[in-house]
Amino acid sequence: ALVVGRRVRSRKKWKRVVGVLKELEESCETTVGRLRQVVDAMAVEMHAGLASEGGSKLKMLLTFVDNLPSGSEKGIFYALDLGGTNFRVLRVELGGQRSDLDPDVEQQPIPEQLMTGRSEDLFDFIASSLHRFVEKGNDSVQSSIVKELGFTFSFPVKQTSVSSGVLIKWTKAFAIKDMVGKEVAGALQQALARKGLNMRVAVLVNDTVGTLALGHYHDADTVAAVIIGTGTNACYWERTDAIIKCQGLLTTSGGMVVNMEWGSFWSSHLPRTSYDIDLDAESPNPNDQGFEKMISGMYLGDIVRRVILRMSEESDIFGPVSSRLYVPFALRTTAMAAMHEDDSPELMEVARILQDVLDIPDVPLKARKLVVKICDVVTRRAARLAAAGIVGILKKIGRDGSGGITGGRSRNDIKMRRTAVAVEGSLYTQYTMFREYLHEALHEILGEDIARHVVINVTEDGSGTGAALLAASHSSSGSVDNI
Ligand code: GLC
Repeated sequence: ALVVGRRVRSRKKWKRVVGVLKELEESCETTVGRLRQVVDAMAVEMHAGLASEGGSKLKMLLTFVDNLPSGSEKGIFYALDLGGTNFRVLRVELGGQRSDLDPDVEQQPIPEQLMTGRSEDLFDFIASSLHRFVEKGNDSVQSSIVKELGFTFSFPVKQTSVSSGVLIKWTKAFAIKDMVGKEVAGALQQALARKGLNMRVAVLVNDTVGTLALGHYHDADTVAAVIIGTGTNACYWERTDAIIKCQGLLTTSGGMVVNMEWGSFWSSHLPRTSYDIDLDAESPNPNDQGFEKMISGMYLGDIVRRVILRMSEESDIFGPVSSRLYVPFALRTTAMAAMHEDDSPELMEVARILQDVLDIPDVPLKARKLVVKICDVVTRRAARLAAAGIVGILKKIGRDGSGGITGGRSRNDIKMRRTAVAVEGSLYTQYTMFREYLHEALHEILGEDIARHVVINVTEDGSGTGAALLAASHSSSGSVDNI
């Protein structure tokens, strides 16, 4: 009787856990129909954000980048890339001809206390790193020739020119209060002066803009760039006459790169779960960056943690509830990806991570399989939503094969132009399942005939290298090219 009782209990607890999984799957559902609604909502919000300041959750920020590098840039240029988990300094030598750029790059994690401390400390840290880097490269720090620097600052900035702008708000893990509303390039320029570096911030750009610049340098059909890393965002080339909120905006090229800040996109069509709602409520920026919280690396692991916690509370398949499961961000997305992609038959990597990271020992194989499934559901939704975002941009600029949002021509009339999108960020470049789900969704939404004309290019270190290229094309010696 004892054995039978145990079996019944065991069956019941599995039923409960499977119920939690089923509910998760249902609320994360991204049918093509739903994705197309997200596509439409994205295109509509883009219009609204361009029509008036505050017209949409999408900020659609001007970048003042109205020309993209052509390949004819010449000289040595530097870049600083700040905004994700790591901080990079780069040096690129440009020979005046398009070539495979091979920048010197140094990367280091940003000490966590600097992300939430005082702005002066952060900028001093950046300037010191740059100082060391320049010296190491045998370049004179104080040389009388001013060095041109591209500054990639991956947060929403209200630009006042291509080389200046004020921070609107922090996103991701940064929260330095005294910096909000302040001039970003100025803060860096002052820190450079404090360290005795003779450098000029030639351009201040978002990481998406750097990525677009490098993407366009290598492939002139590139019209948009997307980052899917710690955070997520996109920028694209827009005609100035479509930027209604800045009437009279004139550029020689007739266009300008627009930083969408799509992380803050929201639509009722997004498949939202109770875990998303809790994550948002407990985050430092509730009611904000809703799209980002469903897609990017800062958050995916934490959604999975919340689901495992819920299952652990509802049954004992993970043993007694581990206190680690209550720690926000205890499960990083890299660990989640490693579990998801564990291809050992016994799922040994899953077992190891559950033990080492979440302090849950001796998880039976059946429960390990469940964890893999949770990772799959969460990642698949993220990748498919990112794909819908990309198609939203293509739709806005009439490159989705439908003739644009106002067009009524039939699909057959359209001669689709080859369209390239530059993508960067660890989720896309280092997480195979994520990348495959994204591609699959692109094909489903667009249909094979159209998808054939859309290429996704990976740009390595594009956000930084692209900023150096833009520094070159915006320096006195550079030259430019129109899209
Ligand atoms: C966040 C930032 C945005 C950046 C993105 C990717 O969404 O607000 O500016 O481009 O992360 O790093």
